[in-house]
Amino acid sequence: MAIIIDKKHNTFTLHTKNSTYQMKVDKYGVLLHCYYGEKTDNTDKSLLYYQADRGFSGNIYEAAKSDRTYSLDSFTQEYSGFGIGDYRITALRAQNADGSQATELRYTGYDIQKGKYTIDELPMVYADDTQSETLVIYLQDVYTGLEVSLYYGILEQLDIITRTVKITNKGKSDITLQKAASCHIDWEYGDFDLISFYGKHSMEQNIQRTKIHHGIQSIGSVRGISSHQYNPFVMLCESSTNETMGSCYGFSFVYSGEFSIEIEKDQIDRTRFICGIHSDNFKWTLHNNDMLWLPEVIMTHSQYGTGSVSRNLHKVIREHICRGIWKNKRRPILINSWEATYFDFTGETLINIAKEAAQLGIELFVMDDGWFGKRQDDNTGLGDWFANEKKLGCTLKELSKRIIAQGIQFGIWIEPEGISEDSDLYRTHPEWAVQIPQRKPCLSRNQLILDFSIKDVQDYIIQTISDLIKDASISYIKWDFNRAICDKFSSLLPPEKQGEFSHRYILGLYRVLEELTTKFPEVLFESCGGGGARFDTGMLYYTPQIWGSDNTDAIERLSIQYGASFGYPISAMGTHVSAVPNHQTGRITPFSTRACIAMSGTFGYELDIAKLTNEQKQQIKKQIAAFQKYYVLIQYGDYYRISTPLEGTCTVWEFVNEDGTEALVNAVYHHVQANAATVRAKVYGLNDTQFYQLSLNEYFTEQCPEKQLPYGFRSGEVISGAALRQVGFVIPSAVIDFQAWQIYIKQCEI
Ligand code: DGJ
Repeated sequence: MAIIIDKKHNTFTLHTKNSTYQMKVDKYGVLLHCYYGEKTDNTDKSLLYYQADRGFSGNIYEAAKSDRTYSLDSFTQEYSGFGIGDYRITALRAQNADGSQATELRYTGYDIQKGKYTIDELPMVYADDTQSETLVIYLQDVYTGLEVSLYYGILEQLDIITRTVKITNKGKSDITLQKAASCHIDWEYGDFDLISFYGKHSMEQNIQRTKIHHGIQSIGSVRGISSHQYNPFVMLCESSTNETMGSCYGFSFVYSGEFSIEIEKDQIDRTRFICGIHSDNFKWTLHNNDMLWLPEVIMTHSQYGTGSVSRNLHKVIREHICRGIWKNKRRPILINSWEATYFDFTGETLINIAKEAAQLGIELFVMDDGWFGKRQDDNTGLGDWFANEKKLGCTLKELSKRIIAQGIQFGIWIEPEGISEDSDLYRTHPEWAVQIPQRKPCLSRNQLILDFSIKDVQDYIIQTISDLIKDASISYIKWDFNRAICDKFSSLLPPEKQGEFSHRYILGLYRVLEELTTKFPEVLFESCGGGGARFDTGMLYYTPQIWGSDNTDAIERLSIQYGASFGYPISAMGTHVSAVPNHQTGRITPFSTRACIAMSGTFGYELDIAKLTNEQKQQIKKQIAAFQKYYVLIQYGDYYRISTPLEGTCTVWEFVNEDGTEALVNAVYHHVQANAATVRAKVYGLNDTQFYQLSLNEYFTEQCPEKQLPYGFRSGEVISGAALRQVGFVIPSAVIDFQAWQIYIKQCEI
């Protein structure tokens, strides 16, 4: 049983395989948070807490006369209200009909449900009844009748607990939510580090580890999208935690819009974590019986460091977020036209690339931006989702036929949420563009945003994209989004509902994606936000892969993909081999290195294949053969970060299958040094008592200049799993700048 209710102590204890979560209803009906961490028993952990009169921390009225130690300001609560004597950051802030901003939540009951709860209109973890259980705890504001239902989904075997909240106005008067978080956790102590991922366009997922200090620390987005700037995934860990050891929590917000993750360490070192929709652009009025579901948060805890937390998340995202046939079906190796041609192409150019690509074993050709409306650059055409036949020299249908005739599938780029002022759609429906009446809108990439909060807009896009897919034989869609949202205002919402715009926009986006992916299950959708502006678990519910960054420089991609791997599986990361000198950095890296790094993702190419030499084309065949050979290991294996691209000389990472019989170690020298210290890779996930043989992927040795074979590596020898884990093996030295190696490890008989 994953949910244990102790009626004597009024505790709710949730167990996963390796973690425990506990809450308790106290004598005043306040729901306390008692514990989240390493697996333990059902004992009431609040008995171990220390309560004192903290001075200037007021007491609730019922307790004031008898117990001045009883203060919401210093207790660890499960979901905090506002304005009633707890001065810390809060989960819920609402304005009542009388103008007051007080919410005082008390326990009213609970419910246990078989299987995992579902949420209306929002992405979420799904699981069948044998894999999951649900606990719902009901709280209500004492005066207004505002009901807060806390949902906990327990996926015991995966060490995952999901949380969401449903808020219902059970009172008679209107209540306006000003802040409504999805997840709130209080710890009685606070020696934590926060690991978060900041970035910018073309350099996403930079890892930042900071000590939680007294005061409030927060990350978030008010950009209408989850954003390049901060990813809606964080880890919280003990300061001694590293990649393999120590207590660590992971929190992934299943949402693609504005979010905030706040942490407050107070004066008595209690630490509060709050995650939810950002409150800056959020105001939601609930009339009598109205309710609002909040987006889900996935939580996991491990005693075995950041690596273990990442693997828990990889698994739950791969198996319980990603859906449809593409969840387990082998994804095609693609070639994308963007860095090959940008806007400068004709139908013939594209057909030539597709033809060459097909001959080398590439399976899908993607026509990127520039094929529609009057688009010759990024100033026009968004919204006009019909082919520019003059430019292509034929209809979309004909082009798709001619490309498919080369022996390759056909996919297209679209940006349905974008609208150019210079477009037929804008001329017909200016009111569909997001802008505030009487104000000039802020342009970005010279474009506006289509108001996806409007149902007519959603329907129009569903129809338009459906027609496109039906008209041409489209196997793949890259769904891009190239600016942040501002001028937040919807022409259809009344003034008092404008605060709902940002969230309604995301609900609209989710509806469109749900309809299209349901209607066309065989089409592979990849999302993109000018690279990684919408790299989040919410999007992965609809699109199983996301273009990781507009930065295709292999060495920079090492860091971007390293950062992304903390919260997201390899199967989610859109990765391509591009040309050198790299278009963003000018860096020249070996072709083999670019392939090695792109293979740790969905794998594809983004260069003008016609410009490659015959020898390079032969290399593509070998790269594809390697990717195909290790596909299952890479996409579904357990992922281990062995060394970081942020220091040292060599980045090393590993994939290992579940039963520990084979592994693939990848190594890239990001900083080649003369007479360098040896790089040692400890291999994880193998069976200690079994024996293994190591072999170098020959394609990489072929790339070495003559007679300069690597040293340090012992090929063909038989080594125990224990020795490989405890001692590790030496990564072959670098013989060229930015050298990459792939070492395959296979269990063998001795
Ligand atoms: C941004 C994407 O990230 C690129 O890959 C490309 O599709 C461009 N947009 C096209 O405008």
